[in-house]
Amino acid sequence: MSIWTIEGGRPLQGSLKLQGSKNAALPVLAAAVLTPSLSILENCPDISDVTASVDILRELGCTVIREGSTLIVDSRGELSCSVSRRHMAAMRSSVLFMGALLARCGEVHASLPGGCELGGRPVDYHLSAFEALGAAVSTDGSAISCRAQTLRGNVIVFPGKSVGATENALMCACGAEGETLLLNAAAEPEIISLCDYLRALGAVIIGDGTDSIRVLGFEPRRSVRFRIPGDRIAAGSYLCFAAATRGRVRIEDCPNAELGSVLRALDALGAGIRLGEDSVELDARAGLEGEVTVVTEPYPGFPTDAAPLLLAVCCCNRGQSYFKETIFSDRLRYAPALMAMGADIELQRSCALVRGVEKLKAATLTGTDLRGSAALLCGALGAEGTSRLTDAGHLERGYEQLERNLLSLGARIKKE
Ligand code: UD1
Repeated sequence: MSIWTIEGGRPLQGSLKLQGSKNAALPVLAAAVLTPSLSILENCPDISDVTASVDILRELGCTVIREGSTLIVDSRGELSCSVSRRHMAAMRSSVLFMGALLARCGEVHASLPGGCELGGRPVDYHLSAFEALGAAVSTDGSAISCRAQTLRGNVIVFPGKSVGATENALMCACGAEGETLLLNAAAEPEIISLCDYLRALGAVIIGDGTDSIRVLGFEPRRSVRFRIPGDRIAAGSYLCFAAATRGRVRIEDCPNAELGSVLRALDALGAGIRLGEDSVELDARAGLEGEVTVVTEPYPGFPTDAAPLLLAVCCCNRGQSYFKETIFSDRLRYAPALMAMGADIELQRSCALVRGVEKLKAATLTGTDLRGSAALLCGALGAEGTSRLTDAGHLERGYEQLERNLLSLGARIKKE
């Protein structure tokens, strides 16, 4: 078990180069099996969810090589169409291989995916999309098999906005005859980057970035070079770490346009925000004071993945803030640990009223999930005294070189 010791109260100062996006990299790695091809993927973050994807790619029969931040995925050989239970359980995004394999092999055998425990995370939208494209889906509650003689384009109306189901349907539709129209599709930046990759691979897709996306055809190419964009959630996390410690950080290679709702909230709390062409700087040395109301929503609304970090910032800010989580029912599981640090939080189901206190106090904390652990780290960095974060391995799923980056900004952290 990974344990972090964090000496709080040291303002973070300095600059760092942003990592590639986890949520952009994972669907692209799954899509790399869509057709026999060689994908050169630059700026691929070295995080454990990417390692889990590479394990699946190798299990399927791909050759994968890492050269610095570039991953080279060769899927030109014969591939298996089964993902083992162990690999499916390693993370939620293992489910994304289903759409790509169904398109490639005409069948896929897998099981329910694992991942962060944030409440029910069903895959019904994913499976209905495969059925709409002509696949027969059978499941015994855990194992899932999908088969299609021929996939045929169709109109798919998602019952709710889902990033993963939109990605799976896009990949599967690339293997279908005829056109597919996705309605009520997710519009997250990661959907656009997946479509950019699919277009480089030979797909004709229009409408990504809106809720109605058309897949018009697919002429597979043999090789593709693609750059994974910067991680908007990691960017927001570092800004929150700096805000909680009353520090100043500059993030280079930052997709500022995708950070709108997070930057507006930090600005409302009184942090100084300066935007460069592809950099952002936050200055909280003068302290924070202000109130925010945060309701998590699909893009461009406030991202559910950034809310835990902002909530941790609000715990030691003069003012009263209100958070409502609308995407995942158990997202707030980390909040009691912040309360153990002295945070004044009133919890009611998926809502939290946060009354800022002067300072949080160090405590022994247990990581709950990726962003929940990051929120606890944020609290500990700003707190008085030395905290211990146990079960900190969740952090490695999404943050590249987190310890090294924080040390370079002046944090005092030790990892056991
Ligand atoms: C993705 C992100 C995750 C982010 C989430 C919401 C990746 C790798 N992960 O997760 O970081 O927190 O989007 O922005 O990109 N739902 C169903 N049935 C389904 C699918 C989803 O009911 O078949 C529901 C979910 O329970 C949830 C909502 O739809 O309430 C949104 O989930 P979804 O967008 O699918 O999340 P992920 O793609 O898993």
